[in-house]
Amino acid sequence: MSSSSEPGSGALLQVEGLQANYVDAQGRVVRAVQGVDFAVREGSLFTLLGPSGCGKTTTMRCIAGLERPVAGRVSIAGELVSCSQRGVFVAANRRNIGMVFQSYAIWPHLSVFENAAFPLRVSRARHAARQIHDKVMHVLAVVGLEAYAQRDATALSGGQQQRLALARALAMEPRLLLLDEPLSNLDAKLRERMRFELQRLQRELGLTTVYVTHDQSEALALSHEIAVMREGRIEQVASPREIYERPCNRFVADFVGSTNFIDAQVLGPAAGPHRYRLGTPVGELEVQAPRVLRAGEAMLLSIRPEDIEPATGVDDGFTTLSGVVVQKVFLGERLDLQLRIGERQLLMRAHPSFAVEVGQALRVRIRAPQCIA
Ligand SMILES: Nc1ncnc2c1ncn2[C@@H]1O[C@H](COP(=O)(O)OP(=O)(O)OP(=O)(O)O)[C@@H](O)[C@H]1O
Ligand SMILES: [Mg+2]
Repeated sequence: MSSSSEPGSGALLQVEGLQANYVDAQGRVVRAVQGVDFAVREGSLFTLLGPSGCGKTTTMRCIAGLERPVAGRVSIAGELVSCSQRGVFVAANRRNIGMVFQSYAIWPHLSVFENAAFPLRVSRARHAARQIHDKVMHVLAVVGLEAYAQRDATALSGGQQQRLALARALAMEPRLLLLDEPLSNLDAKLRERMRFELQRLQRELGLTTVYVTHDQSEALALSHEIAVMREGRIEQVASPREIYERPCNRFVADFVGSTNFIDAQVLGPAAGPHRYRLGTPVGELEVQAPRVLRAGEAMLLSIRPEDIEPATGVDDGFTTLSGVVVQKVFLGERLDLQLRIGERQLLMRAHPSFAVEVGQALRVRIRAPQCIA
């Protein structure tokens, strides 16, 4: 048996060829989701990440049964819940899905406790009063609202209402949890704490979860797998590390974290397997290529700001370059520097204690340039 923190190998949710449209106020068809495929392993947290308007919420609404797709299939635990071709459409309340949506609905006439207890009271599985009490107080404690149990739900702040919506979804112990920007209304500190709590809870209970965010650091911190979306389509599905370190194209590299793009031309092989020398506007760089490169071939390189470091003077095999600091931004936990090398400016990230002045010459080493295309 696998431990509860390790997702299983079977897919609990399967989405195939999903397409969904809206008709806007002028009668035009908006193609919100244009052929999306992904599978979510049982017990894992899968994130849809992408810019505003790329179709994340629409995809979630199709999984939940709140939107009728124009094409494609959705299966949950092997059960086909939506198939436009065959006319299958299982109603939302029959899908056993827990949801927290961007615009969370709190019942204003109920207390905090009763809001969280509601799904248990109306569920077809009967629960004893004691059982409901224990379950509800547990989930309220998880989101830090146990002291507010008897309060009117309307007498909560926006962030507290959002946490209540999360508690309500958790109380159901659904087979699938859909979370659409569940932390968007929280302040930075609380957001970080809740992110941590959510991850612990998800791993502990093995809750199969689809998570939506446009915040890349949230996605990287929480997910087993990330799908990066753009204009109704998925650009790449991979683990957080792979998305960050081996983005499949410029859009993904740019959206997930900050990076420096550099045009390059292959000069020839270097020492070591799959290693090549590349000519770039900042000088000659050596890369580890994912495939065989031909001399003369044009490439796009991505260099993450944290992969540019002050050179140590010791020859450690990394390429070193010389530049001039043209801008310096102190951000508390780090120092962002703009470095001019030749005609180009590169963003680099240093430890906040790093002492350097604008106008100063700086020698840096480049850790791991990535070939993008
Ligand atoms: N009810 C609607 N009527 C018409 N168009 C809609 C409707 N809802 C969404 N859209 C459009 O569909 C596209 C996808 O919207 P969706 O809400 O899925 O995006 P999203 O990725 O969740 O964005 P956000 O990060 O801003 O929440 C957008 O172009 C949006 O304008
Ligand atoms: Mg949305």
